[in-house]
Amino acid sequence: MKFDTIEDVLAALEAQNYVAERGLATTLFLALKMQRPVFLEGEAGVGKTEIAKVLARLLDVPLIRLQCYEGLDVHTAVYEWNYARQMLQIRLVEATGRQDQEAVIQEIFGPAYLIERPLLQAVRASESGKAPVLLIDELDRADEEFEAFLLELLSDFQITIPEIGTVSAPEPPVVVITSNRTREIHDALKRRCLYYWIDYPSREKELDIVRHKVPGLPEQLARQVVAFVQELRQADLYKLPGVAETLDWSRALMTLQRVDLDPATVDDTLGTLLKYHDDITRIRGRTGEQILARAKAER
Ligand SMILES: Nc1ncnc2c1ncn2[C@@H]1O[C@H](COP(=O)(O)OP(=O)(O)O)[C@@H](O)[C@H]1O
Ligand SMILES: [Mg+2]
Repeated sequence: MKFDTIEDVLAALEAQNYVAERGLATTLFLALKMQRPVFLEGEAGVGKTEIAKVLARLLDVPLIRLQCYEGLDVHTAVYEWNYARQMLQIRLVEATGRQDQEAVIQEIFGPAYLIERPLLQAVRASESGKAPVLLIDELDRADEEFEAFLLELLSDFQITIPEIGTVSAPEPPVVVITSNRTREIHDALKRRCLYYWIDYPSREKELDIVRHKVPGLPEQLARQVVAFVQELRQADLYKLPGVAETLDWSRALMTLQRVDLDPATVDDTLGTLLKYHDDITRIRGRTGEQILARAKAER
């Protein structure tokens, strides 16, 4: 799908049940036109990862995901030799008494023994004509060395495997990088990208998301849920609920066939919204009741 205007992007996202502000749609529009990576930052559960999934569906291309974590290294991100298979082949060669050692080495360092990891997969997929969406998720969890490596990759989309050669992507993949901002990502990397901060949604936006994602939820309950969560985000908590939690709560209430929020239901279902015991203890009971009263008073 090609987009001629920002409105096209907004409409396409909406058609995929993704509710976006104009600012985000503009960033995506520009990223596609200018072939630049998008860097999305924001708290957990505000819809960063989902953007990459939705984009892949819209563009009708594969989604290749690299989940970052501490200790993620180039081998796990780019490629690895299938060591076990190489060893097995060597044993077989020994057993059959083959003499052509050089050929054997060539063979076991050939494509059949290569395990492609997400970054190589992405470059290869582009090479074969259909640039995929490459999601580099939660980059803040990876180490800084990995970031430096990524910076290099993003500048030319080519990967050199000493034993095989260089693979390069004629058309760059659509790159979406996300960060939950547990640490700052370096300026150098950010400079390559178009940046967008996804905030917690406004009340209107969140209600819109709930309507799209939990279609059967009674309208009155949807309003109460969203108002409650919005109030809850003003509380002093260790971990505030994201949109993911609002949706979970909505689905839980629908499963319980509620049409109206009451203090007991709130207490019993807090575990869908809050994931820390201290936070739950803080809200359960009196405080939760007050938040509920305020939420219900809003019109
Ligand atoms: N703007 C939005 N429109 C539709 N669904 C959303 C939106 N924001 C978040 N969600 C939903 O909330 C959940 C969490 O989103 P996710 O992308 O995993 O968050 P993040 O990656 O920011 O932690 C997903 O189920 C996603 O579909
Ligand atoms: Mg995510």
